[in-house]
Amino acid sequence: MASSSLISMKTLLVLLLASSLMGTFASNFYQNFELTFGDGRAKIQNNGELLTLSLDKYSGSGFKSYNEYLFGKIDMDLKLVPGNSAGTVTAYYLSSLGPTWDEIDFEFLGNISGQPYILHTNIFTQGKGNREQQFYLWFDPTKAFHTYSVLWNPLQIVFSVDGIPIRTFKNQESIGIPFPKNQPMRIYSSLWNADDWATRGGLVKTNWSDAPFTASYRNFIANACVVSSGTSSCASNSPSSLSNAWLTQDFDSSNRRWLRWVQKYFMIYNYCTDLKRFPQGLPPECSRA
Ligand SMILES: *[C@@H]1O[C@H](CO)[C@@H](O)[C@H](O)[C@H]1NC(C)=O
Repeated sequence: MASSSLISMKTLLVLLLASSLMGTFASNFYQNFELTFGDGRAKIQNNGELLTLSLDKYSGSGFKSYNEYLFGKIDMDLKLVPGNSAGTVTAYYLSSLGPTWDEIDFEFLGNISGQPYILHTNIFTQGKGNREQQFYLWFDPTKAFHTYSVLWNPLQIVFSVDGIPIRTFKNQESIGIPFPKNQPMRIYSSLWNADDWATRGGLVKTNWSDAPFTASYRNFIANACVVSSGTSSCASNSPSSLSNAWLTQDFDSSNRRWLRWVQKYFMIYNYCTDLKRFPQGLPPECSRA
């Protein structure tokens, strides 16, 4: 990254250390993920280092994590469907279960060759979403792997792309806005056909003669609290609780500068400025977002 001066040396060291410690065992897809649908269309390859999803006219495919997490810093490298991906959606998200679920969403809306993907994001708390923000990316997400991350701690949720924050959702329970903090979530991903809405609002349809469409995943790293039988691996008496700096990580001024850069040049939709959609007034969390 050209402007790496904005990332403090300390952050870099922490990242390097974390990746060297975690990299050896964290990214095995066999250990972490279960293929959920699509028969042979979802595949784990290269001894568990690579996972691919594909979509053809009969079916998409998907996977989900074995673990349930309650807070985490979760990184995944994705390379999206190349070429004519119009009509396809690659969804990558965290979600809990039940009617009042919480959810943190990345959705990648494909496009015809050479036209930009849209990165669509949303956050559900207690079963309520309607918090869409959309972005173009500053690179072609089909040419190489890029890292898409969620930092989720009791203070905030931060979506990042290659370490650059693109969106935050602060814990504003003090003014009555629910924040996800009690319901463990699994990680899910799927590749599916959404040509009724995905590309230019549904105008461009999936071209099935370009199928199968394939998206790839690697380098899954979860610095996260795993919940099992009601107990969190981050409970204060557990050994891993010592190394969880991300659990209290707040938004700093460098994060804020990057966020402003992304919002200025790459954000194409923000529910918080959509007065037409919310004629009775913008959602309360928007006033301090
Ligand atoms: C696809 O390309 C068109 C034309 O550049 C653009 O308006 C649109 O936002 C792009 N992305 C999607 C997902 O429609």
